[in-house]
Amino acid sequence: MTILLTGGAGYIGSHISLSLLERESNLIVLDSFINSKLDIFDRVYCILKEKGLFLKNNIQVIKGDIRDKNLLRKIFFDQKLVKKPVDTVIHCAGLKSVRESVINPKRYWDINFEGSKILFSVMTEFDCKKIVFSSSASVYGSSCEGIFSEESEINPSNPYGETKFAIENLLFDITKKKNNDWKILNLRYFNPVGAHSSGLIGDDPVIKNRNIFPILNEVASRKKQELFIFGKSWNTFDGTCIRDYIHVEDLAEAHVKGLDYLSKTKRNFTTINVGTGLGTSVLELVNSFKEINKCQIPIKYVDKREGDVGILIAKVDLASKVLGWTAKRSLKDICKDNWRWQKRNSK
Ligand SMILES: NC(=O)c1ccc[n+]([C@@H]2O[C@H](COP(=O)([O-])OP(=O)(O)OC[C@H]3O[C@@H](n4cnc5c(N)ncnc54)[C@H](O)[C@@H]3O)[C@@H](O)[C@H]2O)c1
Repeated sequence: MTILLTGGAGYIGSHISLSLLERESNLIVLDSFINSKLDIFDRVYCILKEKGLFLKNNIQVIKGDIRDKNLLRKIFFDQKLVKKPVDTVIHCAGLKSVRESVINPKRYWDINFEGSKILFSVMTEFDCKKIVFSSSASVYGSSCEGIFSEESEINPSNPYGETKFAIENLLFDITKKKNNDWKILNLRYFNPVGAHSSGLIGDDPVIKNRNIFPILNEVASRKKQELFIFGKSWNTFDGTCIRDYIHVEDLAEAHVKGLDYLSKTKRNFTTINVGTGLGTSVLELVNSFKEINKCQIPIKYVDKREGDVGILIAKVDLASKVLGWTAKRSLKDICKDNWRWQKRNSK
């Protein structure tokens, strides 16, 4: 079985690549490297080597864009020719900054939505009908807050979330066609954080990153003066936002379980939240990071960001019931692994 992983050089994609190679899958990574670095796979091979696995032959890394229909056709065609057709796609490629999507929504519609459309059309051409899609809790939006189940109201509050929901709909529409036998797993990630426990791969963006952990690292290593906390009057126990932080290795494992699920399910379309079901406030997170890693994190409260929600936690029963997956790693693991990643890659 050959898996095509789009965006496989990125933060989450590189951890999924590693998990798939660990189970000796035949993998093709397609990535434009717009937000990732070419040396990422040397690091992945290094981790595999440390585990006594030599699987370089199981992976092809192709630099290219999901909007390039001819390239996609060539990938699918070549695999068919060598009798290892692409059986499943894991679709992680795309842009992910909420802030940037507000400034340049057209770019988000072009790369995320149009790119997905092209990918799905080539999959259809080559009879590849299994896909795991990287969606996001941002589809739930800001009209409500608290614990979100897969049935919660959808109301994205920014273009990024809108593109994610539009892609979900595109996939759902495919399953409405008569006699279709597509198997689609739509994973809504909550807040992926942390790094691989080796400290060799982690969140290493090219495009400026607004996620909290890369900023925590910068402040702790004194590359940045202070951490901005957006709002201190949220309706939470300490006034700061509450999020569901999930370790990126747990998230990668959810994809492996997802592939097993797709190979046996009769359902055409399944949406599943991927989180821990636990909420942590930003202040709690900062204090844990300080305590666990014995470092200083000066903070500064600034205004709330437009479109933010106070509490965003996943209801995770379905993930456990359907995929047989639950997050195993703790906040302590997240903080430790993240700091190890920073220390090993301080330059
Ligand atoms: N990290 C998060 O907080 C988060 C949360 C929810 C959902 N997601 C989704 O998960 C997916 C992966 O996120 P990530 O954090 O690993 O992001 P990332 O930016 O690290 O990885 C995305 C990868 O896609 C590649 N890419 C972008 N546009 C491309 C294109 N047109 N063609 C081919 N490759 C392209 C980038 O170079 C990058 O390597 C994204 O779809 C994102 O929207 C991420």
